[in-house]
Amino acid sequence: MNSREVRQRFLDFFAEKHHHIVPSAPMVMKDDPTLMFTNAGMNQFKDIFLGNIPISFSRVANTQKCLRVSGKHNDLEEVGHDTYHHTMFEMLGNWSFGDPARPTEGYFKKETIAWAWELLTNVYGLAPDNLYITIFGGDLGDNLPSDEEAYDYWKKFVSSDHILKGNKKDNFWEMGDTGPCGPCSEIHIDLRSGSEKSLIRGSDLVNTGHPLVIEIWNLVFIQYNRQDGGQLATLPAKHIDTGMGFERLCMALQSVKSNYDTDVFQPIIRKIEALTGIKYNVNPTSDVAMRVISDHLRAVAFAIADGQLPSNNKAGYVIRRILRRAVRYAYSYLDQKDPFIYQLLPTLVDQMGEVFPELKKQQTIVGKVIQEEEASFLRALTHGIQKFNQHLLEQKTGNIIDGSFAFELYDTYGFPIDLTQLMAREQGRTVDMEAFNLELEKQKQRSRQDAAVDTGDWIILHENTDTTFIGWDVISGKTKLLRFRKVKTKGKDIFHAVLDSTPFYPESGGQVGDTGILVQNGINYQVLDTKKENNLIIHLLETFPQNPDLDFTAFVDSERRMLTANNHSATHLLHQALRNILGNHVEQKGSYVGPDRLRFDFSHFRKMTKDEIKEVETYVNEIIRNNLLLEENRSLPIEEAKNKGAIMFFGEKYGDQVRTIQFGDSLELCGGTHIEATGRIGLFRIVSEGAIAAGIRRIEAVTSKQADEYIEGRIFTLESMTELINNPGDPVKALANILALHGDLQKQVSELSYKLAQAEKDKLLKQAVEYGDIRLVTAHTILDSQAMKNLAFDLRYSEVNLVMALAGIKDGKVSLGLIISEDLVKTKQMNAGQLIRDLAIEIDGGGGGQPFFATASGKNPTGIDKAFSVLQHWLNSNLAGSK
Ligand code: SER
Repeated sequence: MNSREVRQRFLDFFAEKHHHIVPSAPMVMKDDPTLMFTNAGMNQFKDIFLGNIPISFSRVANTQKCLRVSGKHNDLEEVGHDTYHHTMFEMLGNWSFGDPARPTEGYFKKETIAWAWELLTNVYGLAPDNLYITIFGGDLGDNLPSDEEAYDYWKKFVSSDHILKGNKKDNFWEMGDTGPCGPCSEIHIDLRSGSEKSLIRGSDLVNTGHPLVIEIWNLVFIQYNRQDGGQLATLPAKHIDTGMGFERLCMALQSVKSNYDTDVFQPIIRKIEALTGIKYNVNPTSDVAMRVISDHLRAVAFAIADGQLPSNNKAGYVIRRILRRAVRYAYSYLDQKDPFIYQLLPTLVDQMGEVFPELKKQQTIVGKVIQEEEASFLRALTHGIQKFNQHLLEQKTGNIIDGSFAFELYDTYGFPIDLTQLMAREQGRTVDMEAFNLELEKQKQRSRQDAAVDTGDWIILHENTDTTFIGWDVISGKTKLLRFRKVKTKGKDIFHAVLDSTPFYPESGGQVGDTGILVQNGINYQVLDTKKENNLIIHLLETFPQNPDLDFTAFVDSERRMLTANNHSATHLLHQALRNILGNHVEQKGSYVGPDRLRFDFSHFRKMTKDEIKEVETYVNEIIRNNLLLEENRSLPIEEAKNKGAIMFFGEKYGDQVRTIQFGDSLELCGGTHIEATGRIGLFRIVSEGAIAAGIRRIEAVTSKQADEYIEGRIFTLESMTELINNPGDPVKALANILALHGDLQKQVSELSYKLAQAEKDKLLKQAVEYGDIRLVTAHTILDSQAMKNLAFDLRYSEVNLVMALAGIKDGKVSLGLIISEDLVKTKQMNAGQLIRDLAIEIDGGGGGQPFFATASGKNPTGIDKAFSVLQHWLNSNLAGSK
């Protein structure tokens, strides 16, 4: 059964059992501060489990893109070294959401267990004898009994020697430190040969890390919510959450011994073989590398397609690290010194593009981003290797490489420690890992302190958790507090408050959160920011209200909101203008919409020309002047919105009903706040246009007041410049004249300095002292480094047996120049580029260059004579034979 059929049969099976099949949620999380990436199929239903939002369908099933690389579930280091862990994997899942209003629709342990058994043994035809079941054996700490109910249901299908009791670690599933959780039953499969089975029973190998006795399906019976502080609270309704590892299931059904031998991975591995000329399954080290690369390619490609570009912080940094891990394996074990992983993308797209169209649609941009990331990391690696070699040269004694140097390589150049260790080994040295780990721990400590957030449990004032958002229509209104909690960040307490109705827009879709005040009995409580946590709108309060039970009046900062709305509507117009002028390949890749400015990232493969920028500005300003009215639809069926051609974004999760925002031809799905007519924007100006990644450009722009200020600033600069050149009638012409004159003068100066150098040359050559065959000149000079360079080119072939070290002092700084005639470079292997480093140490500086000419600069003029004597000493000891 190929992997497509495996996936389809799962979905068909649960569709027949009246499950609603939902699409995979994006792999990159947007509004959940506790998770960066989807790590289980249930994440997108978390609010349903917690009772925060109503249930649309009691039974659902899907295949979900998951990534386990951070937080509680992190498999990164195992990946590639074993044959069944992945960073990105597909999780097949079925869910039942217990709804007291629809008690007959949901199901719990009995059906879950019976259906899982039916699917595995009847539909997929797995041999019952190879399956082992684990159930929760209870936990004293949490005061929970063993799950006898699950045991009894399993007993109907499975003999008792195939049912094992497990501990809290394996059989009590939790998404993170807090959140919905419950006991679980895992299904494990024994894929070993008959002879191996006769030696050791499968039940002895369950959960022992054996690569062929592995968990394939986890059935979680969600009954609790783990609170901050660790207590378990019973949830109002019981739910089912199951997750089956798709790649592992394919391995079982395709009778192979590794996930990487299934048709999910084989095409990629074949492609790696073809590109590298190295065969899989020959050498264990290159095999690991191939597995790492084929796994990481998927994680990175899917994350980028979901809108997460590699970057230097948060989720973007995790993606960068995964890609770098793959590059490192390709570099060290498959000898790939040039970007290579991006070439595997077409194979992945062939494989997955139909099931996950977001990947196919964005293939070009994903490929460009990967290629560029690879190239820049390879540059960092090369740089790191140079540093490493230099360190070896400078390290005079001992075979142990300084741990803090290894840390510097790791921290500054992104240079992985195991690569440093490998290179050290190749040179017969070792890295002081104790010192390295100490530095690493110090750094971790620093970032832990920076990131530490202590979030208290919610104190519920009213059970109702639905907030009515009124901010699309008004910016103030009466409200009351539903729940609150205390949050400590960087030693400061603030309060999170949820209101029953709010005009405050929570930060999302690129738009900043509103600020303002809550007023009660004449006291103002500052709202510092508004954020979204899943579906909760959270107001960040500086102080806690004295009477939380009484009503408040909420006021959004109206000017800030208006400026932000201007920028949000202008962002839509900009998007429309770019698609009109540059083409429909333009897709939004990120945005920031604040009161001060807007930023828009989009896919486009060239720098925009000046004319294109002008055209975009003119287009947007035209629409502003036409004063188009906002047409808003708050609940359009998503299919209808699609048919109307509304712009949607990859990596965004949309419901069945969507909100659309339209100004003339610009039609987007959007939850933000907008102005009622484009005229309010007043003026739109692009401030900058540039690249942020391969194939991704960024425009920053301002509107209304800020656009005025921007133009004022430009006029001021122009006026100041005109004043500086004495207010001529035609400032452009006057400046062009000045520049022409400047060019002439520069030419004269260089002619004069050439003459000066000629005179200086003769003088210097006369000072030569004989060192055996060699003529050595060491002298102070008035020549600057450019003139020294000219002199070097002049002397290189015209002189023989010449070594000339020159020192110039300007503003207390020293420039050294070392010239070596070409015959000495060739016959005596002298190298000015290397020698100058030793000289530079004496003037407290650094330098480098070519074998015939090198320069250094430093801050210690008193070291010049010492530097000269280093050179003399070198000549004495190295060229003694030629004396
Ligand atoms: N949430 C459970 C898991 O991830 C079952 O889907 O294992």
